[in-house]
Amino acid sequence: MSGQPAEDWRDSLAQRMANSADLVTVALDALLPRAEGPEQRLMEAMRYAALGPGKRLRPYFALEAAKLFEIEERPVLRAACALECIHAYSLVHDDLPAMDDDDIRRGRPTVHKAYDEATAILVGDALQSIAFEIMAHPDTHDDAEIRAELIRRLAKASGAQGMAGGQMIDILGLRDDLGAVARMQRMKTGALIAYAFEIPLVLARASEPKRHALMAFAHDLGLAYQIVDDLLDVEAEAKDIGKAVRKDAARGKANFVTLLGVEEAHQRVDMLREQCKSHLEIFGSRATYLRESADFVLDRR
Ligand code: IPE
Ligand code: IPE
Ligand code: MG
Ligand code: MG
Ligand code: MG
Repeated sequence: MSGQPAEDWRDSLAQRMANSADLVTVALDALLPRAEGPEQRLMEAMRYAALGPGKRLRPYFALEAAKLFEIEERPVLRAACALECIHAYSLVHDDLPAMDDDDIRRGRPTVHKAYDEATAILVGDALQSIAFEIMAHPDTHDDAEIRAELIRRLAKASGAQGMAGGQMIDILGLRDDLGAVARMQRMKTGALIAYAFEIPLVLARASEPKRHALMAFAHDLGLAYQIVDDLLDVEAEAKDIGKAVRKDAARGKANFVTLLGVEEAHQRVDMLREQCKSHLEIFGSRATYLRESADFVLDRR
């Protein structure tokens, strides 16, 4: 990169991420059901939730990390689509009146606003189910043991020990120490981000040092990503991030920003940014895009 204008790598990475997002959106479109009859409403709302203009960050990380290994793209893409379905479900439920009570997501009405609450609950249920249906299908991988391993890890990342458990702690608004908040963030956001990296690790049957390095990267990145999201709630404008702002403190959330203040939260992100990239040393220059993508997503405004 030396000698190039500073923004060059950002443009090419943005293009790479956009290409990955398009690939995932097309694949998801093919995987999500369409039907006639009264259940059509549910399927339409699932498509509204999953195919809306999200960043498709988790699938991007799975596809990018897969390039560190000699593995086929198709299983990665299917597993990444399943992960994106779980993520979309988590957002639909996160926005419900009983949770964060948000009206705007990805710059459009949330599912319970565009449809209704009962439909939004069912959209979450059905997106979760289809994620496991996609993973269990033989098209995902010939080896049933690999499929079972991918499924088991996705279940753990999204359940009570992962995303759902973290959401519980978030809703309780526990104002404990920073360690407790870090644990909550690692569960509610970190676990699904980490799963993106587990996909290639499982498919490649990666060695322990590589597994350790990539998971360490994922954990620091996931925590930093949620702190950035919490900073955006305080510093961004709704029109730029496609969702309401200035809500977390008002709703009594405990996070790094409400606990540490804006400045220290930024410092924490910078520390995690450097730390996460240092874990990738084992992959040498093959991990250049991953390193750059950490900067890219953490510089989000
Ligand atoms: C939003 O996730 C929720 C968090 C975990 C911070 P993203 O920022 O990945 O949202 P989309 O998928 O691009 O809408
Ligand atoms: C959401 O965290 C994490 C999920 C598991 C969905 P937030 O509640 O901060 O996400 P946003 O700000 O609504 O996207
Ligand atoms: Mg929330
Ligand atoms: Mg929310
Ligand atoms: Mg938020």
